[in-house]
Amino acid sequence: MSDEAKIQQHDGTSWLYSDIVKDHFFNPRNVMPAGKEDEYQADGMGRVGSPACGDEMVIWIKIDPKTQKIVDCKWQTFGCGSAIASTSMLSEMLLENGGMTLDEAVKIKPQDIMERLGGLPARKVHCSVLGDQALQKAIEDYRNKLQS
Ligand code: FES
Repeated sequence: MSDEAKIQQHDGTSWLYSDIVKDHFFNPRNVMPAGKEDEYQADGMGRVGSPACGDEMVIWIKIDPKTQKIVDCKWQTFGCGSAIASTSMLSEMLLENGGMTLDEAVKIKPQDIMERLGGLPARKVHCSVLGDQALQKAIEDYRNKLQS
């Protein structure tokens, strides 16, 4: 099957999950270990709940103050497998190539995460929004702290 056909197969019209989604679900990257939240000493933290399903997502970020790049991030969720896979992918996107700048990170859209995942079933799109919203709040938290 061509890559294009595979993406079409995962374009949200079915319940099929791409191999990339499955990989991130079974081996999630950058998860915050339980009980390590305080010692992590994040520069910014964002917590959101999903009105669609009631699940919750938290993201912690560390920022290099000189470059304004995200040098590390961790996350936790009580969400479903799609939320886990989406936020795991998001965390990789933030950290690849030496870390994304905050200005780049605020421009990330759930659609960008879904493209990297090879699509999500339509009923699971709201799950990828959760990580993105938590990230935006974490960036806001960091910027608010700088001003205070
Ligand atoms: Fe709640 Fe996916 S169903 S995050």
